[in-house]
Amino acid sequence: MRNRVEVMHGVNLDQLGRREPVHYGGVTFAELERMIAERAGELGLQSRFFQTNHEGDFVEHLHRLEGLADGIILNPGAWTHYSYAIRDALELTGLPAVEVHLSDVDSREEWRRTSVIREICVARVAGKGPDGYRDALERLRAELTE
Ligand code: DQA
Repeated sequence: MRNRVEVMHGVNLDQLGRREPVHYGGVTFAELERMIAERAGELGLQSRFFQTNHEGDFVEHLHRLEGLADGIILNPGAWTHYSYAIRDALELTGLPAVEVHLSDVDSREEWRRTSVIREICVARVAGKGPDGYRDALERLRAELTE
């Protein structure tokens, strides 16, 4: 079974726990990654994690995924809304990807409603906090076992 999931977080996500709790809750980034790894394990998925605050590093990490991952869960943070470089690199992987946002991006500022990766992802989960990652893992698992 294809079960290797790359979980990628972008800019400012490492600051969870310090960011506005009304949007992001109180979970720290380390706790979030632990929760995702646990849920992935329960679903029989192998998870690997990557976070950076540098767009080029995010792009290069996507370049390097060939042969190492079967699917991607990504929350690029603010890059979601404008980075065509990340969109192009994600498309280049050819891997099924699920877009995740902790907050309800569609009910916040207007500029957060745009996602340049949305149409190349197999699914999108937003506004469910850390639980959204469980939904994303389930969705990706369904995609990988199809
Ligand atoms: C976010 C939403 C983005 O608009 C924001 O810039 C983030 C986090 C989320 O998880 O809700 O950094 O991706």
